[in-house]
Amino acid sequence: MQDDTLQPRGAMTIRTMPMPADTNAAGDIFGGWVMSQMDIAGAICAVENVGGRVATVAVEAMSFIAPVKVGDVFCVYTWIDRIGNTSIKVGMEAWTKSRDLPLRTKVTEGHFIYVALTDDGKKRLVGETRS
Ligand SMILES: CC(C)(COP(=O)(O)OP(=O)(O)OC[C@H]1O[C@@H](n2cnc3c(N)ncnc32)[C@H](O)[C@@H]1OP(=O)(O)O)[C@@H](O)C(=O)NCCC(=O)NCCS
Repeated sequence: MQDDTLQPRGAMTIRTMPMPADTNAAGDIFGGWVMSQMDIAGAICAVENVGGRVATVAVEAMSFIAPVKVGDVFCVYTWIDRIGNTSIKVGMEAWTKSRDLPLRTKVTEGHFIYVALTDDGKKRLVGETRS
């Protein structure tokens, strides 16, 4: 049972609504759709902080906590865990709010790692100019 006093950590980076086309065979939202939204949110956070192109290099400690339903308002919150030499690690949580219930529910958490790239796709030191 989730503690109702818990609040999302980090800054809201994506807010969207899954559609029937995003469901799995059981009628819940497909985990791949959820992960792709998290990857997009993490990339937005990474790009804003390294100032240029990034590529996802790893996903760490991904947990699916509760199902996501068609029509839920789905939000991803992000924060920076660590900035390395060429990489940035972004922490994130996804929360939903259903049409029928006032409470928000934490549905996933994870940590994605992005590498800063030059415009021609080579890794670069974070803080260096892009090309
Ligand atoms: C991103 C890419 C250019 C990195 O090149 P690379 O030579 O393998 O890079 P390195 O092994 O030197 O690692 C680069 C950084 O990523 C980190 N990293 C790499 N693999 C990692 C992993 N599995 N877990 C955690 N960190 C990792 C390294 O620690 C390093 O961080 P630092 O420089 O801050 O210390 C290359 O791996 C690549 O092109 N991958 C495919 C990316 C992709 O297509 N993503 C999906 C679509 S966006």
